Amino acid sequence: MNKIVIATNNVGKLNEIAAILAPLDIEIVPQSALGVGEAEEPHFTFVENALAKARHASRHTGLPALADDSGICVEALNGEPGVHSARYAAPPANGGRAAQDESNNRKLLAALEHHTNRNAHYYCVLVLTRHADDPQPIICEAQWHGVIVKTPRGSGGFGYDPLFEIPGLRKTGAELRPEEKNRISHRALALAALADRLRAGYGMRDAGARSPRSRFRNPES
Ligand code: IMP
Repeated sequence: MNKIVIATNNVGKLNEIAAILAPLDIEIVPQSALGVGEAEEPHFTFVENALAKARHASRHTGLPALADDSGICVEALNGEPGVHSARYAAPPANGGRAAQDESNNRKLLAALEHHTNRNAHYYCVLVLTRHADDPQPIICEAQWHGVIVKTPRGSGGFGYDPLFEIPGLRKTGAELRPEEKNRISHRALALAALADRLRAGYGMRDAGARSPRSRFRNPES
């Protein structure tokens, strides 16, 4: 497995996945660079949606595909937005992911206005299919715990990061440097587990002292 297509068009996720997988001796390509559009995500569980996205990308490219399905689960809201995190608020008229993120964040703050329990966690599941009908996809998951603040802080990250404070650090996800977030986030932990599975089961090596073969072309960044 020398080349993997990344089954997302979310630039925030793409950048994090590329940075964390960089040490592996592998070429990763965003699905948009191969003309693959977004897959449907009709399911109630993260893992089913991730599997649907990975299969879609493998089917259209003939390549192994890695999909991430993730979201923020808020205790006082019975786990919502959860699988609906990307489109929690109605899509804004002016479109674009940044505008959607801002609407989502406003809606979440309004929903929590009268709640004292602000506990939340991010959840990430990764599914890697070697081909579209792979009967044994690799599945790795992780959580990242924090609290929802009352006022957004920070300009890094994406999505709900300006609202998500990490208790030990007293910083929101958007106040972390990318390399800090990429050490401790739900996506970082799930990707670390995936990298271990690839090294153990698929003979994948680290690029080591050689310059990494991991190349990443992101036409959107
Ligand atoms: P998906 O593309 O259906 O997996 O949607 C994931 C959504 O969850 C994103 O659009 C964000 O709203 C949210 N999300 C997932 N991971 C993160 C993160 O690391 N930071 C901020 N928001 C995230």
